[in-house]
Amino acid sequence: MARPCLLAAGFAWLAGSLAGAVEMPTALEAGPFLTGLRPDRITISWQTKEPTTGRVECRFGRQRRLADSPAPARLHQVTLAGLPPATECSYRLFVGHAATPFWRFRTAPDGPAPVRFAVYGDSRSNPEKHARVAQAIAAHDPAFVVHTGDFVSDGRVRAQWVAQFFVPAAELLRGCPILPAMGTHEKHSPVFYDYFAPPRELLWAERLRGAPPAAFPTAGWTAWRFGSLDFLVLNSYASVKPGDPQLVWLEQALAECRGTWRIVVAHEPFFSSGKHGGSEKLREALLPLLLERGVDLVFAGHDHTYERTVPFADGDDSSAPPLVQIVTGGGGASLYKVQPGPWAAHASSTLNFCIVGVEDDALVVSAYDDASRPLDCAVLTKANGRRDFGEAVPVAALEFLAAAKRFKSFSFPHPGAEPKSKEFSFSAANPYAHEMVGELSWEDAEGNGWALEPPSQTVRVAPRGKATVRFTARFDPTAAGAALAAAPQAVLRAAGRSVAVPAFAIEAPPRPRKPEPPPPPPEPTDPFDLEEEEEE
Ligand SMILES: [Fe+2]
Repeated sequence: MARPCLLAAGFAWLAGSLAGAVEMPTALEAGPFLTGLRPDRITISWQTKEPTTGRVECRFGRQRRLADSPAPARLHQVTLAGLPPATECSYRLFVGHAATPFWRFRTAPDGPAPVRFAVYGDSRSNPEKHARVAQAIAAHDPAFVVHTGDFVSDGRVRAQWVAQFFVPAAELLRGCPILPAMGTHEKHSPVFYDYFAPPRELLWAERLRGAPPAAFPTAGWTAWRFGSLDFLVLNSYASVKPGDPQLVWLEQALAECRGTWRIVVAHEPFFSSGKHGGSEKLREALLPLLLERGVDLVFAGHDHTYERTVPFADGDDSSAPPLVQIVTGGGGASLYKVQPGPWAAHASSTLNFCIVGVEDDALVVSAYDDASRPLDCAVLTKANGRRDFGEAVPVAALEFLAAAKRFKSFSFPHPGAEPKSKEFSFSAANPYAHEMVGELSWEDAEGNGWALEPPSQTVRVAPRGKATVRFTARFDPTAAGAALAAAPQAVLRAAGRSVAVPAFAIEAPPRPRKPEPPPPPPEPTDPFDLEEEEEE
């Protein structure tokens, strides 16, 4: 990859024949796209079909900057430094001997300022749908766009990055810097880092400042500040066990947050009502830390849905800071069905993106579909540092309810014509460091021949412990109104929320025995034989 070379002077190359050229260079294959947005700099990248040299011309006010990518290469990355903060800049590329039109970007503010940004993810596999979503996002003119991962079907295949990501989102990416999170389909590919890693000189600058190796963004996780927003972007491929570099980095990065809003971006969600569901492993490893350190908002993808959770907090103490998680995985990939879980404030199966407006102590998340029709809206506010996100649910209750998906259906033997009962038991494991408490009860268990004992019971599972839950089911087919198919529904309840768990699976009725073959018909009697017998 060609690396940047910022020129303070030397406009001669530009003068004359190239000035004023506005045709899109045919050699351009992907980009330009913008990364590394800071108050004083930005990185502009592009890819050509054949190796070539390149140059960026940037204008702001009455000033002009040039930066070269002098070595023939296909992927070019040029950093413009020394820019003024919160300033609209225009730029164009020179690719070979052709120039692009001018496009615009805006540098980051150097302090708190109102901002509007976009979030979306899972843009893979269907370029036409991705193009619709990207164009709808561009119409909102966001300051930057956060991508929650799964850019393409297979992140190791460069051609897919062009066809599935850069070309469909070209208009958006020319003027809207991107903050990318690694998804599962990126497969930890070096291609992700080729496109999105910060320029090498920034890495060297961080090393010279004594940053620990774990802080280097080449690991796929990164911290980024924009005005009053602190973003912490996680790498779904990197482990988060105690002592692992990503967790060490995250603890350090959270301690260094100074902004009003703390926003975590992680491809895999903690809670989700889509096909994949939430990650119990991530809940166990990260949620206590994020809640303790006052993270306000988590953006995720992975499930191709839109979903916003209710606010949840560590414990039911009203002073515990709540957190809201949003899954926005509708950037083009085939949609998944949703079955709203007990954590869901809004869940839908549709292409989608989020526009987030931040002004002073208010943060407004608006979700839209691919035609920019509103889907959902949530307002989070802070007054004197105290959050008003709405009533929060204890996270332990949601974790208890999330365990419902582990239940297998209870297999009840077909009773035939006789009453039948069966004892059941299942073990409830608690992987978390806090107690899980909830209730198991039964619905629709009266007047239809079914009886469940006990009809409800408290389930209490010690931290990192296990509990065995037992109950007995009985069905009497001779009872009035007996209906085998109306098997009672098991329900878990906690903190005023409930979720159904699989009901009984009734075993197939016993196979009817093969009927005894009828006795063979008597031999036809022969009157003559009879006569003979009689004669004997
Ligand atoms: Fe994924």
